Amino acid sequence: MPKTIIISNRLPIKVQRTEDKLTYESSEGGLATGLGSIYKTDDNIWIGWPGTYFTDEAEQQQVTKDLAEQSMYPVFLTEAEIRDFYEGFSNETLWPTFHYFNQYAIYEDTFWEAYQQVNQKFCRAVMELANPGDTIWVHDYQLLLLPNLIREEMTESTIGFFQHIPFPSYEIFRLLPWREQILKGMLGADLIGFHTYDDARHFLSSVSRIVGLNTAQGLIDNGYRSIMVDAFPMGIDDEKYASLASSEETKSKIEEYREALQEQKIILSIDRLDYSKGIPQRLQAFELFLKEHPEFQGKVTLFMLVVPSRDQVETYRQLKETIDELVGRINSSYRTITWNPIQYFYRSFPIEELSALYSIADIALVTPMRDGMNLVCKEYIASKLDKKGVLVLSEMAGASRELADALLINPNDLGQLVQAIHAALTMPEDEQTMRMEHMQDIVRRYNIHHWVEIFMNRLDYIKVKQQSMATQ
Ligand code: G6P
Repeated sequence: MPKTIIISNRLPIKVQRTEDKLTYESSEGGLATGLGSIYKTDDNIWIGWPGTYFTDEAEQQQVTKDLAEQSMYPVFLTEAEIRDFYEGFSNETLWPTFHYFNQYAIYEDTFWEAYQQVNQKFCRAVMELANPGDTIWVHDYQLLLLPNLIREEMTESTIGFFQHIPFPSYEIFRLLPWREQILKGMLGADLIGFHTYDDARHFLSSVSRIVGLNTAQGLIDNGYRSIMVDAFPMGIDDEKYASLASSEETKSKIEEYREALQEQKIILSIDRLDYSKGIPQRLQAFELFLKEHPEFQGKVTLFMLVVPSRDQVETYRQLKETIDELVGRINSSYRTITWNPIQYFYRSFPIEELSALYSIADIALVTPMRDGMNLVCKEYIASKLDKKGVLVLSEMAGASRELADALLINPNDLGQLVQAIHAALTMPEDEQTMRMEHMQDIVRRYNIHHWVEIFMNRLDYIKVKQQSMATQ
């Protein structure tokens, strides 16, 4: 029976070696939840990196065996590959370029070499497991060359590709020395998906100008195959967040937090440590808000959760220092004996605690400089059982295209951000409810299951269309 093979750089599980024991920690991520219904059924499988460096062959075999029981297949990376492919080309070349931070991009041949080699390594893993007729779904910017590598080995295969981060405008994309090879790598897919129409439009424009192919109506004709490009805004598992919010564990956390925070208004900010998230700008806006609205001093607390990420990359280390300094400065200038303006945490939180924070937060401040989608804002909305609370959302996040009832801001405009914080804190309850209901409708309707379904349906559709075109 044909199966589905999902491939992403990271597996939806983190394997770690603690002393001489292997531990397996499942991911709570949206992708893992959404694709759970696929890879855990029939002979379907998920291929990816287990997230830790393993040298020992016996250990690798053990990991492979343990993961096989959960329908996963590991691709092991060497230390050099982690440095040059993962930290290097993926996160110091592509990530900054695709997020419009091209001033941070490093153009380094050794990174590019490693990127090609690791994409080939993933291709070999696919070849070990794939049979003709299988459906192959490749995810994200770490594997842009993989669709075409697979296509060269299995010309007739069905390949979908989804990019979870933005696709930049042609003027930014063309700065990459390897722009043409990258596009040709992606064009091995039959269906190429992005979160927004703008991302899809930028991609089509690069294909037409750099590769010279016809891209009319979102269909790329490469001479022997039609490739479809479209927007598929990713959703979350809304039911999971709604039921978490009403669970006993979350309720007791809410009580505990309420007791500690008394009548404080809560502003919540949750991100991975990343310069694309606009964390320093958000802190500056909060500082300006306290200065311009002294009546709120002592009455509002910013809960800022920063999840450690890519800490071997220099720009991330510098960002951590900048945030530490800013938080220290703001807290030391404004704090009183009984009030601390910013509660800053640099660690990850269990999902039950996140759920309690979403529930009690009066405002979610989601203000990235650039974000493919941003699922935190959708999790906030899905957790709001009482329909109270205000979302302040950056126009630069993919989610802003769907969530028109948020207070939309340009994250570079600190004045506008200050006004939005003030408007959110003083918004009448019936307006909060009206906006929240509209957004909950959208989050519910376009959830993660819908996303998987429409992507898979469209992939089937383009395959059928290709066949009918071939017989015409
Ligand atoms: C973003 C990317 C994912 C990536 C995740 C975490 O959401 O789109 O592909 O896995 O960040 O980053 P990391 O470098 O830890 O995998």
